[in-house]
Amino acid sequence: MSAYVLAHLSDPHLPPLPAALLRELVGKRALGYLNWRRNRHLIHRRDVLDQLVADLHAQQPDHIAITGDLVNLALPAEFAPARRWLDGVGPPERVTIIPGNHDAYVRATRRRFAQAFGDFLRDDDAGASDAITYPFVQRRGPLTLIATSTAVPTAPFMATGRLGAAQLAALDHVLGARAAEPTFRVLLIHHPLRPEHHGRFKRLTDADALLGLLKRHGVDLILHGHDHVHSTMWLEGPRGRIPAIGVPSASAVAHGHHPAAAYNLFRIMRDGEGWRCEQNVRGFIESKGFRDIRRVMLI
Ligand SMILES: [Fe+2]
Ligand SMILES: [Fe+2]
Repeated sequence: MSAYVLAHLSDPHLPPLPAALLRELVGKRALGYLNWRRNRHLIHRRDVLDQLVADLHAQQPDHIAITGDLVNLALPAEFAPARRWLDGVGPPERVTIIPGNHDAYVRATRRRFAQAFGDFLRDDDAGASDAITYPFVQRRGPLTLIATSTAVPTAPFMATGRLGAAQLAALDHVLGARAAEPTFRVLLIHHPLRPEHHGRFKRLTDADALLGLLKRHGVDLILHGHDHVHSTMWLEGPRGRIPAIGVPSASAVAHGHHPAAAYNLFRIMRDGEGWRCEQNVRGFIESKGFRDIRRVMLI
């Protein structure tokens, strides 16, 4: 049986940042705008992101997951270019996205993400006029994709995330109902689940509750972004450990302790009653483009 290939990229922070109207630059956004003008425009490059998408298309994955931070300051002018970029990645049947903290940067535009990308955020069982809710569930090939939102507007200098009581209750129900299904269950979440991996200013504040649900119901694979680094964590599930994989920003050049842009290809195969899953990391090398960096048999 041939493998089903799921590609994962994250945190494109779509460059360039459109010129902001002065009246939009108050509070947290003013700080973020200055930070972009001073530092981030050198780190997040459109040509790197375009090479990543071209390389990814050449690999012909069956499906693509994007785990948030599509834009930077959630300025109204950022969403139309981000929509055009996403349409170039693929149609909603082939691409699943979730929001990150930068997509809900300030309270005023926290609904823009759902307005701009609604058809990519649709639960299989939802009607066309239903509101977007999280988690939403999509069946694709052998996969069940369970897509969450941890994106909440936060105070300046904070990049924390939160699922909230309502979403945790819905997740409890969804994960419980899907636990017996013979599908490969993939949880998509922007923030990583282990708080000790970074400071309290960037963490998922209700990670413990989700870790409890995963311990009880399990999934087969967790994909996240936010940290902009390669990361593999093993979390406790009901029948052994669950791999949780993070990936660098899709538009970044190497800087500080952050590696250059990369994405992952997961080759998923049925193996008797269980699954096999191979991770193939493809990363950006200046003047060479994207190359195989490593292959790991995860499961
Ligand atoms: Fe990010
Ligand atoms: Fe983030």
